[in-house]
Amino acid sequence: MLNDDYHVSVLLNTSVEGLVIDPSGTYVDVTFGGGGHSRKILELLDEKGRLFAFDQDADAAKNAIDDPRFHFIASNFSFLTNFLKVSGVKEIDGLIADLGVSSFQFDEESRGFSTRMDARLDMRMNQSQELDAYKVVNAYDEEELYRIFREYGEVKTLRKLVELILKNRAKNKIKTTGEFVNLLKTIAPRGKENRFYAQVFQAIRIEVNDEMKVLRSLLEQSAKMIKPGGRLVVISYHSLEDRLVKNFIKKGKFEGEVEKDFFGREIKPFKEVTRKPIIPDSEEQERNTRSRSAKLRIAEKVAWETNS
Ligand SMILES: C[S@@+](CC[C@H](N)C(=O)[O-])C[C@H]1O[C@@H](n2cnc3c(N)ncnc32)[C@H](O)[C@@H]1O
Repeated sequence: MLNDDYHVSVLLNTSVEGLVIDPSGTYVDVTFGGGGHSRKILELLDEKGRLFAFDQDADAAKNAIDDPRFHFIASNFSFLTNFLKVSGVKEIDGLIADLGVSSFQFDEESRGFSTRMDARLDMRMNQSQELDAYKVVNAYDEEELYRIFREYGEVKTLRKLVELILKNRAKNKIKTTGEFVNLLKTIAPRGKENRFYAQVFQAIRIEVNDEMKVLRSLLEQSAKMIKPGGRLVVISYHSLEDRLVKNFIKKGKFEGEVEKDFFGREIKPFKEVTRKPIIPDSEEQERNTRSRSAKLRIAEKVAWETNS
């Protein structure tokens, strides 16, 4: 499969040029997907440079690049430090994360990510994990359903949605994305139906893949693994992700204000390279509709933070 058929990379040049500051350095692409960002990184590296790439999806592993500088790790990026240490890597020059699902995952009917197709409720990025969308929709209790739609979907018709699920699954299990969308249709706000379905699906997807927790863990680990002067580059696709990334870069934590030391210096591992997030230009947004919600943030590891 051609790389572009699998996934069209977003903000490719800007993100990779913001990442690779040493051609002989060691870099990590934690969301390999179709490998677009990885290929670009390899182009900028010399023969001493190294690239480690993570993806938890077995389909993405098939795109692994045949290059002696490239090492593919079939794992969730929440195990970043462990796998790098096993590979003998103690520190890295930069890390890129291009979050969310690939176009391949989204367009592949059987994966159950799309609101426009009819497949088993699945939405797992890692096909071997147990929790899937079917379990969330059919087995989560009332309180858990409220939690995920409140926290991850920012859905306004919260009570109606939870009641709809509870009432219908008591009669028959909700098995497919098609059946689920047909139910959602009955309570969708007029004129905003697609947005509503997308919000509901997004909340379930975030829960199934535990996306907020693994992103927090990734950011914390990146602060330990990236060496002073090295780069953190993150492309996010919804406000929940971007808020975590932004707070971590600006404040060194996910909530609350930045802490200061005795001398009034801010205690945080990164400083911003881009003060505002970079978004794709109109040409890219036109060419690749999935790039429209993208926000890119680039940060530099500060020198006085130790890597202990
Ligand atoms: C948006 S795509 C990346 C596309 C890639 N940058 C390219 O240019 O082709 C995101 C990829 O990251 C993977 N992914 C998302 N979260 C992950 C995680 N926590 N651990 C490992 N892989 C993850 C998905 O399986 C998917 O293949």
